[in-house]
Amino acid sequence: MNNTAKLNINGQIHELPIVEGSEHEKAIDISSLRNKTGYITLDDGYGNTGSCRSEITFIDGEKGILRYRGIPIEELAEKSTFVEVAHLLIMGKLPNQEELKRFSDLLTKNETIHEDMKFHFEGFPSHAHPMAILSSMINATSCFYPEILSSERQEDFVVQAARLLSQVRTIAAFAYRKSRGLPAIYPKPSYKYTANFLHMMFSNPYQEFDAEPEVIKALDLIFLLHADHEQNCSTATVRMVASSKANLFASAAAGVCALWGPLHGGANQAVLEMLADIHRSGDDGSKFIAAAKDKKSGKRLMGFGHRVYKNYDPRAKIIKKRCDQLLAKLKRVDPLLDIAKKLEEAAINDPYFVERKLYPNVDFYSGIIMRAIGIPIEMFTVIFAIGRMPGWIANYREVHENLETRIYRPRQIYTGLTQRPYVSVKERV
Ligand code: ACO
Repeated sequence: MNNTAKLNINGQIHELPIVEGSEHEKAIDISSLRNKTGYITLDDGYGNTGSCRSEITFIDGEKGILRYRGIPIEELAEKSTFVEVAHLLIMGKLPNQEELKRFSDLLTKNETIHEDMKFHFEGFPSHAHPMAILSSMINATSCFYPEILSSERQEDFVVQAARLLSQVRTIAAFAYRKSRGLPAIYPKPSYKYTANFLHMMFSNPYQEFDAEPEVIKALDLIFLLHADHEQNCSTATVRMVASSKANLFASAAAGVCALWGPLHGGANQAVLEMLADIHRSGDDGSKFIAAAKDKKSGKRLMGFGHRVYKNYDPRAKIIKKRCDQLLAKLKRVDPLLDIAKKLEEAAINDPYFVERKLYPNVDFYSGIIMRAIGIPIEMFTVIFAIGRMPGWIANYREVHENLETRIYRPRQIYTGLTQRPYVSVKERV
């Protein structure tokens, strides 16, 4: 295969190397382009830009393939747990029994937030969105462990990673309790990761929350399916911040902020709000589908479409199946699930969605599972953030440990005013 691409600029030919990934994706390496030609590339929304080389997650959006460190998401969803997958992403391998015990013990040892951090929660108004609390508190965590932040030792990184992974769910649960005026519930060392989160969310000082095994498994699956997704908006943000050599907690806090938006992680909340609105209005979904196709309406079918998947999101398939199973097990009938299924059926047979290759994404059914578990809607994106933490940590590590990492600093094409004189305040019109 020819391993260069030829670029003709005003009759001058420039050769650019072609790079091939382990799954045979090809890229043109333009790192010397500006130096050689004075030109830069313009790629609005980065749809054609590979921002890094990464060994963590592979997606083929045309075929609907997602693999963490080479292992298909379907297999991990069926056979593994969130904690094992976190180990896979961060450490590069599925843990053996001894490694799993060591990693789980480290999570348990680091699960309680510094007692003084509790005072920070007091400063937030009760109506504060938990994503705002989560990003602030993750950043604040770094203040309590300054010694570890300056360390370059591998063992210290693992402790930091475990602390972040473990404490994010403690912070999330405390934020929820605070928003409801409920007392904070401390983590319980005997519980595993997801059961412990449910305990901190729903137990009371006078009564322990008794989570059904299916509920724990369903939430663990949601965490696992969200654990990484290559260079999405929030992960790219984490890598961007990490490239400036900011610490792990600051980088993850930035990831939470990027995730919050309704076009990204905030979509799971937006889907449920959309389904509830449709239900309230008495629409069977057809009016909403018509509005979503009309650009002037400002509406989109939330939970549909994806920058990378031009096929069914493999996570959506898994979640839809689990959603049906969980509701049947809990003997729950949810009218919003019926509306979601009708919307999906209508959309996948509608030329507007078919031509644009818009299929359900991970957020389309996840909200219905969370609703069945009793997780309030404003916590949906927080759940996504807890799940995405291993991916952010793994990506942070890749940036941090790569000695060739340069600070991420894109260019731009300036379209503003050209040079003009300064006008003093008295003469300005
Ligand atoms: N409903 C209606 N039309 C849509 C939708 C949708 N959900 N998504 C895309 N389109 C249309 C666009 O209007 C555009 O139409 P046009 O070609 O006639 O102008 C075309 O499909 C392409 O859409 P873009 O916005 O250019 O696609 P992009 O890759 O930039 O956006 C995104 C992807 C943000 C996910 C988009 O599909 C969307 O807004 N979906 C709804 C929000 C959502 O579910 N987000 C979660 C994504 S998954 C995640 O982050 C975990």
